[in-house]
Amino acid sequence: MTDTTYVGAVDQGTTGTRFIVFDHGGQVVANAYETHEQIYPEPGWVEHDPIEIWENTKTVITQALGQAGIAPEQLEAIGVTNQRETTVLWDADSGRPVHNAIVWQDRRTTERVEELEENGAVETIREKTGLEPDAYFSATKAEWLLDEADPIKMERARPADIRDRAQAGDVLFGTIDSWLIYNLTGNHITEVTNASRTMLYNIHDLEWDDDLLEEFSIPEAMLPEVRPSSDDETYGTTDPEGFLEAEIPIAGALGDQQAALFGQTCFDAGDAKNTYGTGSFFLMNTGNEAVASDQGLLTTIGFQRSGEPVQYALEGSIFVTGAAIEWLEDLSLIDDPSETAELARSVDSTDGVYVVPAFTGLGAPHWDQRARGTIVGMTRGTRKEHVVRATLESIAYQTRDVAEAMEADSGIEMTSLKVDGGAVKNNYLCQLQSDIIGSEIVRPVVDETTALGSAYAAGLAVDYWDDTDSLRDNWQVDRTFETTMDTETADARYNRWLDAVERSRDWARD
Ligand code: G3P
Repeated sequence: MTDTTYVGAVDQGTTGTRFIVFDHGGQVVANAYETHEQIYPEPGWVEHDPIEIWENTKTVITQALGQAGIAPEQLEAIGVTNQRETTVLWDADSGRPVHNAIVWQDRRTTERVEELEENGAVETIREKTGLEPDAYFSATKAEWLLDEADPIKMERARPADIRDRAQAGDVLFGTIDSWLIYNLTGNHITEVTNASRTMLYNIHDLEWDDDLLEEFSIPEAMLPEVRPSSDDETYGTTDPEGFLEAEIPIAGALGDQQAALFGQTCFDAGDAKNTYGTGSFFLMNTGNEAVASDQGLLTTIGFQRSGEPVQYALEGSIFVTGAAIEWLEDLSLIDDPSETAELARSVDSTDGVYVVPAFTGLGAPHWDQRARGTIVGMTRGTRKEHVVRATLESIAYQTRDVAEAMEADSGIEMTSLKVDGGAVKNNYLCQLQSDIIGSEIVRPVVDETTALGSAYAAGLAVDYWDDTDSLRDNWQVDRTFETTMDTETADARYNRWLDAVERSRDWARD
């Protein structure tokens, strides 16, 4: 063992949990990953087992440290980043969840959101939270859990008790950051970017909003304390008697998309990134101003450092991009995502085929909870290569949907876009993306920017890094992709994509 120190980051995503240890140069020195079960109790419902997520978190931390021969004490701090909106309710006495977590992709509360349109609450929600009312966010999920949670997992409470117990602060609410921080430190805390995704948090006043708590019948006593993303006070420490047998400060947390913004060092207004994971999330820092969108983007909190005002962001949330590649695998059209580039290149075009992967409705900028996946333009000559290529193209087109909205809202013409996430290893996709949006695509050396962002937040809080300038110095370009397609061709293909999107809309009716 040496006395070199590091910062660790738990990256709890939709499909799995990762722990990465970073050195002072922002380089990865240890990395472990575990997937967890995706539970689909009914069509359109998606759940995760919070206990499995916590167990996996402990496993990956232990594995990564063990593999690299790093002692827990060599970690100066741990940051947390997480799939956002996913909602957990747990019993404060036993620490046991009352039900599986309801995942951000889950559509069970679609009708409840439609009621909001009828009772005129939509505009209020937009103004207070910056969000477009949708089943995507936590509020209606928490409401559903309070009304419907299955008591079996709770051991003690019965459904009728859950509300009463929540009112007394004995049943707690949290997004995944909160669930992990609670398990790591024993404290019931969330941070401001995650709070901004609940549809219960006023992003201007920076507090839980009484009117929204009333609308969704959420008792305030069950809500976590909201803290900065990088917190000098820290959220607490790991238990020296716990699995790590060491007292490590948990000092930073960010929703995963905001963490990627931070990890890409998008610290100034106008800086933007797009992350390609299960879905894709395009965020632009708008500084201390919460810019309201009239193009179907979300206004959200980008990050906050201790003692500083929050920085806001505009966000284009695309629900299905990487998940569409997984779907190709599930259909046995491919054996592995790495095959997609070669298959796509083996044909000259999609031959007129468009795939709209609206499996869980459409997010930004269309916002259609009832849209569903659609393939149009097939002929008897359509081959799997065309479908694979059209699926990759759908990722690039959906990004153009939000890029156009971003330009219109911000008035900033985009000439360069930083990208990250698992799918950007695919050079074909990066080139295609540059061609379809007509701006250069810049891929950094460290593509684990989500974990890096939360490590940076935690490391800044404990003075492992001095300031954001030193983080900027760590950021390095791996490769830049320049546009090769002429604008006319890109526009013609994109317009056809918009036609295909129209076909997918409003499909799922009761
Ligand atoms: O808003 C959902 C988002 O945070 C999920 O990200 O990377 O886990 O798919 P990811």
